[in-house]
Amino acid sequence: MESNASAPGKVILFGEHFVVYGVKAILCAINKRVIVRAEKIKEKKIYIKSNIGDLILEPNKPISEIDSPLKPFYYLANKLLQTQNQTTGIKIIVESDIPIGVGLGSSSACCVAGAAAISGLFVKTSKEEILKLAISAEKTIFQNTSGADCTVCTFGGIMEYDKKNGFTKIKSEPDFHLVIANSNVKHSTETVVAKVKQFKEENEIRFSSLCNDESKLVEDVLKLLSDNNIKELGQKIIQNQEYLETIGVSNKKLRDMIQVGQKSSFGAKITGAGGGGCIFALTDESNLEYSIKQFKDKNYECFSVKIDFKGLDTF
Ligand code: PMV
Repeated sequence: MESNASAPGKVILFGEHFVVYGVKAILCAINKRVIVRAEKIKEKKIYIKSNIGDLILEPNKPISEIDSPLKPFYYLANKLLQTQNQTTGIKIIVESDIPIGVGLGSSSACCVAGAAAISGLFVKTSKEEILKLAISAEKTIFQNTSGADCTVCTFGGIMEYDKKNGFTKIKSEPDFHLVIANSNVKHSTETVVAKVKQFKEENEIRFSSLCNDESKLVEDVLKLLSDNNIKELGQKIIQNQEYLETIGVSNKKLRDMIQVGQKSSFGAKITGAGGGGCIFALTDESNLEYSIKQFKDKNYECFSVKIDFKGLDTF
């Protein structure tokens, strides 16, 4: 028997970093996916095959002893074998079109699709239960995850998130394209978050005023999303990027890419932690091809995405 699932990646549209200090952020799922195929096997092994390598281990190993980016899959398979009292094994095949380690939610999508495919071998599980399982798997690699990424990968669409109130799905279905350009510089979210903490400690008043500005901006954005006002949204993106520049998470390469985006689209900004990773440019049909061409002419790796409204899919 085979159990298959897929889950989308994500971008942070607004509010990264400020969200750490209580401001609301807006995330959306994107139509780039991870597909996970799980199968019961007679042999007592957990066998994981992916485009970043393979991991083959016996069940019941302590998770702390496993040094592999595929650890969340091992954790999920082992947990299900244990809770279902199985003495057999599981084979997992992972295929992904989400770039890894650049803030596009690849690991969250793996955890969500992995949790759904593996649990689907044994029991029918609700999306809410799969999300819980996925977050516990993600904690094997990011202990402090807020769960925001796994949530948006599970339910799809656009979501607002803040530390106090958690997640709320936004009903708007705006019709835009994002051109995502990848700096191909892997970033450590932890390091960049620590840098922002230092900026905050050295500039308390300035930082607090930026948090207020960002909160106001996000409220304006929520209205613009429901009105599908793409041009004005572009202006908010440009504004948000200025705040990110101020707190020091940008660099020359990202600025060069953002300049290409801002000249060819309605607005462009970093998405995620910064320091490396990706930026996105907001476009519609009128400037999509032009924007992609501008990035490609300057040899930047880029691709376009739309919002994924489906979220987790099982088949
Ligand atoms: O690691 P990324 O690129 O998906 O984004 C991190 C978002 C931050 O706001 C910088 C950190 C956080 O925990 O919210």
